[in-house]
Amino acid sequence: MTPLLQVNDLHLTLKAPAGNLTLLHQLAFTLYSGEIVGLVGESGCGKSLTASVLLRLLPSSFHVSGSLLFEGEDLLKFSSRELSRLRGNRLSLILQDPALALNPILPIGIQLTEGLRYHKKISKKEAWQIGISWLHRVGIGDAAYRMRQYPHELSGGMKQRLLIAMALICRPSLLIADEPTTALDVTIQAQILDLLQTLQQEEQTSILLITHDLGVVARCCQRVMVMYAGQIVEIGAVDQVLMAPQHPYTQMLLKSRRSLEQGCVNQPLETLEGTPPSLFRQKIGCAFVSRCPFGMPICQQQSPPFIQLEKATVNCWRSSTLQEAS
Ligand SMILES: Nc1ncnc2c1ncn2[C@@H]1O[C@H](COP(=O)(O)OP(=O)(O)O)[C@@H](O)[C@H]1O
Ligand SMILES: [Mg+2]
Repeated sequence: MTPLLQVNDLHLTLKAPAGNLTLLHQLAFTLYSGEIVGLVGESGCGKSLTASVLLRLLPSSFHVSGSLLFEGEDLLKFSSRELSRLRGNRLSLILQDPALALNPILPIGIQLTEGLRYHKKISKKEAWQIGISWLHRVGIGDAAYRMRQYPHELSGGMKQRLLIAMALICRPSLLIADEPTTALDVTIQAQILDLLQTLQQEEQTSILLITHDLGVVARCCQRVMVMYAGQIVEIGAVDQVLMAPQHPYTQMLLKSRRSLEQGCVNQPLETLEGTPPSLFRQKIGCAFVSRCPFGMPICQQQSPPFIQLEKATVNCWRSSTLQEAS
């Protein structure tokens, strides 16, 4: 199968007067047509930065190296004009904060149809009709009337539905959804995730679903990538990673989630000891070593290798030694 997106040896560096700082390390993954892949990790591990790199949204103070092939073309070589033609059209984004994504002083119909008119060069009237049909599709009733309303007249759930319509209206081949349900309460979260999955099936769009919630991954994704301190530490099929996690960080994430689910009334919740390292660290050895229950001397000294196991890829010295021993 030809990959839709192929990321290889991607590094993101912030150029600063005191020296350059690498924020994302050695990202390497592939997304295929029609799949939903989760990107999961604690707050601050670099998930949103990854989304910004994929869409080439970062300012020139950041340097990106490696390769970023989307539909066979290297996005790192795109001009700003080519990027404007790509974003919102073949490659789309739903931002983490719906309030920031909408202009408070423009009717929602204008915001919804803006991309369509820019990318598809169709008349205002035609775009308006398509806009109305998309509001119906995302479950916003009274669509013709709603098109003339302003964002503050919509509830949080409706705003998120509108953002989904805005992101999909040009029928992109890849949608990056950055924590699309984090700002919503639990019942609305489930509805929005169902909607995303239904539209994904209908449109055959691929989704990179960014979340800190393993429950969301279990519900929606076929594959998952686990991120820690600006690095992907484990990639695999969701059932494999959730049932038999290989990286000690994934194991700790799952353990803390299970203790939360079991509602340990009389016992303290399992939490991850320590705090995630700042992305502004000097990278020597494994980033997880200070919190890892299996730390070995080599973990302090050298970056771990990527180990290809049967159903997952893991970035860990322990997997490497276990593999050699077996
Ligand atoms: N524009 C920026 N300039 C400098 N540092 C940034 C910028 N954006 C993010 N960072 C750094 O990268 C870290 C990871 O951010 P982010 O990708 O937003 O994490 P996540 O989405 O996983 O919660 C932040 O804690 C911050 O230190
Ligand atoms: Mg984020």
